[in-house]
Amino acid sequence: MRRTAALRRLAAETSLSADDLITPIFVREGIDSPVEIPSLPGVVQHTVGSATEFCKQLVDLGIPGVIIFGVPEKKDEIGSAAWDPDGIAQVAIAEIKSTVGDELVVMADLCLDEYTSSGHCGLLGSDGDVDNDQTLGLYGKVAVAQAFAGVDFVGPSGMMDGQVGVIRSALDEEGFIDVGIMAYSAKYASALYGPFRDAVDVTIANGGDRKTYQQDFRNAKESLSEILADIEQGADIVMVKPAMTYLDIVSMASRAATVPVAAYHVSGEYAMIKAASANGWIDGDAIALEQLTAIKRAGASMILTYFAPLISELLA
Ligand code: PBG
Repeated sequence: MRRTAALRRLAAETSLSADDLITPIFVREGIDSPVEIPSLPGVVQHTVGSATEFCKQLVDLGIPGVIIFGVPEKKDEIGSAAWDPDGIAQVAIAEIKSTVGDELVVMADLCLDEYTSSGHCGLLGSDGDVDNDQTLGLYGKVAVAQAFAGVDFVGPSGMMDGQVGVIRSALDEEGFIDVGIMAYSAKYASALYGPFRDAVDVTIANGGDRKTYQQDFRNAKESLSEILADIEQGADIVMVKPAMTYLDIVSMASRAATVPVAAYHVSGEYAMIKAASANGWIDGDAIALEQLTAIKRAGASMILTYFAPLISELLA
């Protein structure tokens, strides 16, 4: 069954294509030209203009989706730039959407960590921990602001309990019944997000971490309850994050979920391949292809990856 390439093609159970890919895009306020991110070689902080140009290229490459992350100039305690109609994410969404229309599914990460001075994903309570319930109302406001800007999907990534239900109601109340929700459902407190935090200029105050709201990597079962709760609350897509270290979770999710499963091949996973490849220790392109195919084999229907442009060129 493995003797010739044609036979191997015939027998292959998994195929990876540009159709499966969502490209993360960072858009930074107050810059005149794109800024490189040293820990994410090949990825930049875009201006609104360069992000829009990049989106046109992605359409030409056959990539169907992007997810926007805003990097604001000013942060405050409550993260108010996240729902400001003139906030960077909203401006970028509107510009991109008016240029590419429905040729691209434009998603936006929905969280507060890029916008709060604490670097946390929500409001801090008097005990210094994130206050789940106080944060939910703000997530509703962010969702509505992104929807007014024209977003197709919001991607709540803050891991607050009940966030999908609150966001669904907030969108519906404003008439945005067609704006979908891609929930970061099974999101682990992972050290693999390091380079991302460089990309969005986030430092968690006082050397803190997200262990009170993101999942413990020793556990698998709770992913199932997180995923089922999000579907129950109205998630249209559920996500597992990170991907490679959590293929067991991707597999479990794909068997349990009644909606498509996305997996996020995160910044640290990208950076490790790039760094080893730059040293000549591994073949980076081959490993990217192998890892992304493995994520599909585990059951993901779509993959968020910084490799999206490169892989779609390799597959073309
Ligand atoms: C939160 C968010 C994070 C990522 C996506 N959304 C960071 C975090 O939870 O600390 C990480 C993505 C990556 O590492 O590529 N807004």
